[in-house]
Amino acid sequence: MATFSVNGKTVTVEKNQKLLRYLRDTLGLTSVKDGCSEGACGTCTVLIDGKPTKAFSDIMQIIADNPQIYLVSGHISNQEAIDLCKYAKDYGIKKVLLSNAVTEHLSEQEIDQVLGLGAKLEKCLAEHTHTGTIPKTHYYVEPEYRAYDEGQSGAPKGGVYGAAEQMKKFGVEHFICGTDFGVYTLPHPVEGFREWIACLMDSGWTDEEIRMVTTVNAAKMLDIDLSVPFVPYGEACEK
Ligand code: FES
Repeated sequence: MATFSVNGKTVTVEKNQKLLRYLRDTLGLTSVKDGCSEGACGTCTVLIDGKPTKAFSDIMQIIADNPQIYLVSGHISNQEAIDLCKYAKDYGIKKVLLSNAVTEHLSEQEIDQVLGLGAKLEKCLAEHTHTGTIPKTHYYVEPEYRAYDEGQSGAPKGGVYGAAEQMKKFGVEHFICGTDFGVYTLPHPVEGFREWIACLMDSGWTDEEIRMVTTVNAAKMLDIDLSVPFVPYGEACEK
């Protein structure tokens, strides 16, 4: 038998079982995910006495030791995103990208905070145009693994022009534009980028600013040297 506190509530466990199974199956805390079930992937990370469990630490260390890898938040809550940025800084991870589902829920104060911790923010076209009551992942994802904000109503997020304004306000060097296009219910990604760029042009952005959020910032994240000419797929064998 063991007694401990989970999110401030004292609980007693009678039988020997995995913490993951107890949290999910008995307490119903399905935000704790089961990835590999064997301590390797870190998706079941919880804080024990304020410290993340071992698999998380191992993964953070691998990323820190391999600067060509960058860390992406996935769809997590604001506080989790802030904590992740702090952990990344502690581990010496230089490249952190907060996904659009985080970016769009952050307050301006929280944006300041995560930018100060060195994160880049994704701005996603679908979030400002197509996100609504039609979920984007239900088609192929078990309900418990859906993004936490799936199926929420089309929250007013300022539209594309509001998104453009926010990027300018905090500095275009901090943002990477994506589209989420290409998934269930959305058109091809190329069309998404065409629309994004058209909207940014409409907003009076310069070519340089547009290139920054659509190309340069992402290239830095991926260690791509933009001075090397791009060879389109299918033509490399002819060069
Ligand atoms: S599910 Fe726990 S580390 Fe993978």
